[in-house]
Amino acid sequence: MIFLIGCSVIIVITIISIARSKKSLKTILAEAKNEILYNFIGSRAIVQDVIMRGKNKTELPIKCGKVAVITGGTRGIGLEVIRMLLKCDIHVVVGCRNTQQGEMLLDSFRKDGIEKGSIDVIKLDISVMDSVKNFAMNVREKYPEVHYLINNAGIMFGPHIETRDGYESQFATNYLGHFFLTHLLLPQLKAGGKAKEMSRIVNVSSCAHMVGRINFDDINSRHNYIAGEAYAQSKLAQVLFSNYLDSQLRQEGVFVQAHSVHPGVVNTELFNGTHVKNLTPWVPSLLFKSPEKGAIPIVHACLSPRLEGKGGTYIHNCKIFAASNAAMSADLQEKLFEFTKTLLGIDKFGAIDNNNDSQMAAAV
Ligand SMILES: NC(=O)c1ccc[n+]([C@@H]2O[C@H](COP(=O)([O-])OP(=O)(O)OC[C@H]3O[C@@H](n4cnc5c(N)ncnc54)[C@H](OP(=O)(O)O)[C@@H]3O)[C@@H](O)[C@H]2O)c1
Repeated sequence: MIFLIGCSVIIVITIISIARSKKSLKTILAEAKNEILYNFIGSRAIVQDVIMRGKNKTELPIKCGKVAVITGGTRGIGLEVIRMLLKCDIHVVVGCRNTQQGEMLLDSFRKDGIEKGSIDVIKLDISVMDSVKNFAMNVREKYPEVHYLINNAGIMFGPHIETRDGYESQFATNYLGHFFLTHLLLPQLKAGGKAKEMSRIVNVSSCAHMVGRINFDDINSRHNYIAGEAYAQSKLAQVLFSNYLDSQLRQEGVFVQAHSVHPGVVNTELFNGTHVKNLTPWVPSLLFKSPEKGAIPIVHACLSPRLEGKGGTYIHNCKIFAASNAAMSADLQEKLFEFTKTLLGIDKFGAIDNNNDSQMAAAV
């Protein structure tokens, strides 16, 4: 009851603050609708996190000799994913913008008593395609095999900003950069996969994908930018990509599987600047999952033997969960996949000769 009253208060205050801004009526209505939708799916996801908390568990098997690549990870959920992977004795390649911060990670984990695993830090701005290419080249040179690719880095809401390549920032960061990175590292993932221990691609999506829609006519939201719509679009794109890629890899008969994950509603800096954190700062610390708990389903998607051969699934609290109808549409999956390949100038996804990096140079 208190929870419902809290949500209603947030919705009312938010709608008033949107209405007091100097935006067009169309934008105000769209933002208000969006706010209500987010409050609904957010509240539902919090309740699911509480109900399913007993299921949100995974084993941490020793995986000595395995290589994981993660985007982001100097803070938030990614940081806790790295901690858990180290406990499994995995070598973790961290792609981050602030490499100085990245270099300090291993020391701090060692101080926390984690003696296993190792870290390599390589510069990456996932929203900039040249940076993705340089990062992938580095990884390819150092690691002939990659066993886990965790597409974790993400941003949420914020003003309409276009990246250096001219893409809306949430679309570029959450989806496009990860699509490109996956394309560039697919040969290494294929090399790392074995019949009974497939390599895994894990796209950290969100329950926000449930309200997403792919606006092919205005993919960069130039005409009517609603931050929540652009976030939901990027998160739906990640689930569509995971599902389609998995079906293609299955057809090809290679030992790589792809998953998408909703980590839960997690108390991280992702919510900085949002209405929920500005208006009711007690809500995230009281009702949201901790970053440690948010990391568990991601690590589960990477390592659990229970998911072996079960790619193309959406994981929520370590359970296979139903993704939205849109995410399951084979037509939409294929349409977005082809659309994205065209955007990035990719001819055949993942087809890059290991010995010929000039093909990579031509890929953007
Ligand atoms: N928190 C939640 O409730 C929630 C719910 C559903 C899904 N998710 C998803 O979970 C993932 C992790 O989110 P979080 O909650 O851990 O957020 P966070 O605490 O804000 O961390 C975001 C991470 O992404 C990195 N990042 C952002 N933009 C980047 C860029 N252009 N290049 C490289 N790295 C970049 C950040 O690095 P810098 O330090 O360089 O900024 C940071 O490491 C995101 O994909 C998010 O959408 C989160």
